[in-house]
Amino acid sequence: MRKKYVAGNWKMNLTLAEARALIEGIRAKMPQNPPVDIGVFPPFPLLFPMAKALEGSPIIFGAQNCYFEPKGAFTGEVSPQQIKDTGARAVIIGHSERRHIFKEDNALLKKKVVAALAAGLDVIYCVGELLEERDAGRMEAVLDAQLTEVLGGEISLDRIVIAYEPVWAIGTGRTATPQQAQEAHAFIRQRIAKLYNSQSAETLRIQYGGSVKADNARELMSQPDVDGVLVGGASLKADDFVGIINGAIAAK
Ligand code: 13P
Repeated sequence: MRKKYVAGNWKMNLTLAEARALIEGIRAKMPQNPPVDIGVFPPFPLLFPMAKALEGSPIIFGAQNCYFEPKGAFTGEVSPQQIKDTGARAVIIGHSERRHIFKEDNALLKKKVVAALAAGLDVIYCVGELLEERDAGRMEAVLDAQLTEVLGGEISLDRIVIAYEPVWAIGTGRTATPQQAQEAHAFIRQRIAKLYNSQSAETLRIQYGGSVKADNARELMSQPDVDGVLVGGASLKADDFVGIINGAIAAK
């Protein structure tokens, strides 16, 4: 059985005071020993203070991006080791906002995944198609390239979680239906089985992301290949995020 994994991607939101209040609220309202994995992904400056705010909690935290070089003259970038030093366990790589706003391509993302794993970070690797790609019948080709060109069958999947985030569902309020999510997740698992083997595909966790809310989380995570969620907007309010955690616990 794959353990469900609920992750909150805070994006470029929350002041220090707001972040502390959010963590306090989540810790007060969530179940004591949740049978699911939970993670929050604050902006870089909040990593150290969130390490402190999360002491003694089962919630892990991570960063939203990293660079692939270990150090040097790369103004504005942050290395995987620097992220690891904050106590962070993981990093999100290849989020659609990185791909589309910051023009990160598969070749760059591969380097980032390799460097993050080498520094001892777990990776949430994001994939997903644009609306025009879906409408043109290219969803599978896009996902295939994002999996093949970055993971390629050679990078170990032991510490990787894949997040399927259809770009048309991010921040739009237009969630993929549970059936659309299941279909894409099944395709990803099948591609991973071809690139690696059926055992790796069977144990790999695949999260869904895109307008996940407390009222749709349970049904999404009840799909056989949906092993968790990567949440944007609804991860910024304690009640909403805890509602999603409860949805994960209740999912069949
Ligand atoms: P929303 O949940 O705000 O649609 O964002 C999804 C996302 O991009 C999570 O990484």
